[in-house]
Amino acid sequence: MKEQLEAIKIAASKAVDAANSEKEIEELRVKYLGKKGELTALLKQMGGLSPEERPKMGQLVNEAKQTVEKLICEKSEELKAKATELKLKAETIDITMPAKKKTVGKLHPLNTVLDDMIDIFQSMGFDVLDGPEVETDHYNFECLNVPADHPARDMQDTFYLGENLILRTQTSAAQVRTMETRKPPIRIICPGRVFRADEVDATHSPVFHQIEGLVVDKGITMCDLKGVLEQFAHEIYGPDTKVKFRPSFFPFTEPSVEVDVTCSECGGKGCRVCKGSGWIEILGAGMVHPNVLKMCGIDPEVYSGFAFGIGLDRLTTTRYKISDIRLLFENDKRFLGQF
Ligand code: PHE
Repeated sequence: MKEQLEAIKIAASKAVDAANSEKEIEELRVKYLGKKGELTALLKQMGGLSPEERPKMGQLVNEAKQTVEKLICEKSEELKAKATELKLKAETIDITMPAKKKTVGKLHPLNTVLDDMIDIFQSMGFDVLDGPEVETDHYNFECLNVPADHPARDMQDTFYLGENLILRTQTSAAQVRTMETRKPPIRIICPGRVFRADEVDATHSPVFHQIEGLVVDKGITMCDLKGVLEQFAHEIYGPDTKVKFRPSFFPFTEPSVEVDVTCSECGGKGCRVCKGSGWIEILGAGMVHPNVLKMCGIDPEVYSGFAFGIGLDRLTTTRYKISDIRLLFENDKRFLGQF
C-alpha cells in the first residue's frame, strides 16, 4: 500500500505540473481527491489491515491527501494569476498613442450665403417656403404665361420626366403654388434647386439654385420692387454697392428687369470676374403679369405684385472668389474645408 501511495503521489505531482488550465486542475482534483478518487479508494482498502498498521497507514494516506491538495491549490492559484496577467496585458491602453482626429463638419458655402439671404428677407417680413423639385408643366410653364409652343420655352432647356412632368427649371413655379393657396397680402421667398439641360462649363451647371421672391398686395408698384432689391443688394454686398435695373423680358412679369450690381471683385473698374464690364448680373425680376394673377385666381384690377428670382450660385462664387461653379457640386472635402 505504501508503494501504491508513493506511486499516486508521484503521478499526481507530474499531472499537476503538466496541467495548463483550471479545467484540467479540476479534473485532477476529482481524480485524486474526489469521492471516487484514487486516494479515497486507498482509505477504503484499509479495512484489510491489521489494527496496528491501520492508524499508521491512515496517517500516511492523510498526509498524501494533504500534499496532493496543496499541489493542486498552488497550481490553481498560479493558473489564475497567469490568466489575470494575460487579461490585463490584452486590455492595456497605450495613452501615448495618437488619438483619432474627429473632423467637425462645416456649412457648405451655398448654405452660408442662403442663410444670410434668408435672414435679410425674413427681416423684411418675408415667409420662407418650400416647393417640389419635380414639377408639372402646368406650374413651371402654363400658369406662368408660357403656354405650349411659346417661343419663351426655348429660354430654358428642360429635363422631361414624362409628358407633363419635368424637373423644375425655375423656382417661379412656387409663385403659382403660393398664390393658389394663400390670399394677399403675400410676401414669400422660396429657395431651391433648379435644373436645366445646359452645357456644363465654369459658369453653367445642370443643377443650380434660385431664390424666388413674391409680393402681392393692393397698390404694389415697381418702386417697392426697386426698394426691396436695393436693400437686399446693400445688405449682401455692402452699402456702397451700386444697383442697376436693366429692361428685360420674362413671360410672367411685365415690365421685366434684370438687376446688376457693381462687381465686388474690382469695385466697378472692370476685371476678369465681370468680364471687364464692372457689373455682375444677380437676378431677374418684374411686376407679376396680370395673366398670371388671373390664372391663380387673384383679381389684377384689385391686386398687383412683383416677383424676383435670384441666382444663389453666382452670389456664392463671387463672394468667395470661386472661379468654377462646378466646384460647388463636386463635394471635395479639401475644397469645402476652406470656408
Ligand atoms: N425665373 C426667372 C429665371 O429663371 C427669373 C425670374 C423670377 C424673373 C421672377 C422674373 C421674376 O430666369
